[in-house]
Amino acid sequence: MTVTKCGTSLSRAFLSASLSSIAVSLIAVSLVAAPEARANDQIKRGQYLARIMDCGGCHNTGAFTPQPNLKTPLAGSEIGFEVPGMGVFFPPNLTPDRETGLGNWSKDEIIAAVTTGIRPDGRELAPAMPWRSYSALDAKDAVALATYLKSLTPVSHKVPGPFGPNEEKTAAYLTVAAPQ
Ligand code: HEC
Repeated sequence: MTVTKCGTSLSRAFLSASLSSIAVSLIAVSLVAAPEARANDQIKRGQYLARIMDCGGCHNTGAFTPQPNLKTPLAGSEIGFEVPGMGVFFPPNLTPDRETGLGNWSKDEIIAAVTTGIRPDGRELAPAMPWRSYSALDAKDAVALATYLKSLTPVSHKVPGPFGPNEEKTAAYLTVAAPQ
């Protein structure tokens, strides 16, 4: 009798010990998985924001042509915008390529450019980039957008320009034309 009791309580003790170790490992797994899941949520939210804020409408390669490249989005456009009196500005490559894109920019630098129009080198972006409207972006969405840009496939593609008002323009651009 006593032996059986002892055996039962021993196996109970064993069972509860293994259950608690399973619980500990589950907590550990969820702690490890949590940041990754959060990053995925941010990327999804950022992708959604980029879509409804139409970043690709200007920054996709082939934007304003019948065949924009949607396979590697936001890799920069060959079609510029003339801002009268300021020059011609091309939507740059936003993928994390180090040479030709935003690979060397921190998320904070990306957020500053999108919401205040200031590039890391201090130059203010031309109003063809709608940063004044994007200044209304809330902090959480701004981080999600920057996290999404950082998650893109890096593409090596240097866009033309920018060209000053009197410089020769070597690529196509949209402009404001007065009626003849
Ligand atoms: C209407 C066209 C247009 C839209 C829409 C647009 N951009 Fe731009 N963007 C531009 C142009 C043009 C420039 C270059 C301006 C300049 O050089 O002064 C630019 C510049 C930038 C830059 C600076 C990059 C660099 O290398 O200097 C970033 C970052 C950027 N855009 C991000 C975005 C994001 C993110 C979105 C969507 C939320 C977006 N843009 C939507 C036209 C656009």
